[in-house]
Amino acid sequence: MEKALLDTDGGRIPALEARWGRAPGVTFEQRFGGTVAVLEAAGSTAVIAMQGAQVLSWRPAGHVEDALWLSPQAKLGTGRAVRGGIPVCWPWFGPHPEGADKPAHGFVRAAPWRVAGSAVSDRRARLVLSFDATRVDPGLWPHCAQAEIEITVGEALTVTLSTLNVSEAPISLTMALHTYLSVGDIARVEVRGLEEQVYVDQLAGHARKKQSAGISFDAEVDRIYQATPDTVIVSDEVLGREIRVAKTGSLSTVVWNPWIEKGGRLGDLGDDGYRRMVCIEAANAGGDTVTLAPGARHRMTTEISVQSVCIQTRSLNRGRV
Ligand code: BG6
Repeated sequence: MEKALLDTDGGRIPALEARWGRAPGVTFEQRFGGTVAVLEAAGSTAVIAMQGAQVLSWRPAGHVEDALWLSPQAKLGTGRAVRGGIPVCWPWFGPHPEGADKPAHGFVRAAPWRVAGSAVSDRRARLVLSFDATRVDPGLWPHCAQAEIEITVGEALTVTLSTLNVSEAPISLTMALHTYLSVGDIARVEVRGLEEQVYVDQLAGHARKKQSAGISFDAEVDRIYQATPDTVIVSDEVLGREIRVAKTGSLSTVVWNPWIEKGGRLGDLGDDGYRRMVCIEAANAGGDTVTLAPGARHRMTTEISVQSVCIQTRSLNRGRV
């Protein structure tokens, strides 16, 4: 069922439907002012923007709440990345190491991607989007590579970012699947799975620190946990659920919540957006850089799944904000 040719029709829905549509598993629509694909399988539904190959929503089977947080101001086609869902940070994470004039988190998150494949089965729906960075202005990025995002929807949401070096020289890059998870109240959330790990504290001059216990939130947090290939669990007392973020091809885990002041400065979080989100990002960032030999491909996958559970308050910092 897989189709492997590149889509050349941009965002035109009838053409996309004719070529890549597989109703009811893969369909295309106009939403948020732009073209999106809707993937439905095994009772779960995801919405993916052609802009940035950005997953905007994923509602797992049997759950009313979305697993992902999306800004109430989400709008496509503004030239700016939409805040929320899963922005793709590539081929660098964070500010560019040399050029303050270059966009933070790379140049693909607000750019149009092309459909490169679609498939459905009883249990899964899949979409592949590609970005050809060989045509990018060398002043912005002087390398030749192709990026691909493959999204699979079923019991879990799986997103793979792959990078193919099509040049004759090695390429070094950093990257992240900048996942905004939706939570009931950030003050009643605990992130587990990073205990005893070393992190770069982006709020303390990139000082290296060690995590002691599970992470709870009562202020801004902006950390790159290094050498952390393992699964992270977001325990959400208010929504009564645990979100598991498993990954491969990723050595870093970014944990970010802007809290009140930075949240206000960002301007697109909504009134209390900081309370309703936490970013757990599968990444290769900080000291974890990927170097690709000519012709080599790197794959980084994040797999998100949700379980309903009854969570005790335990050590959560309830009432502290
Ligand atoms: C996080 C970074 O991944 O993204 C933060 O660790 C940054 O430092 C945040 O502030 C949001 O970035 P942006 O460019 O989407 O506002």
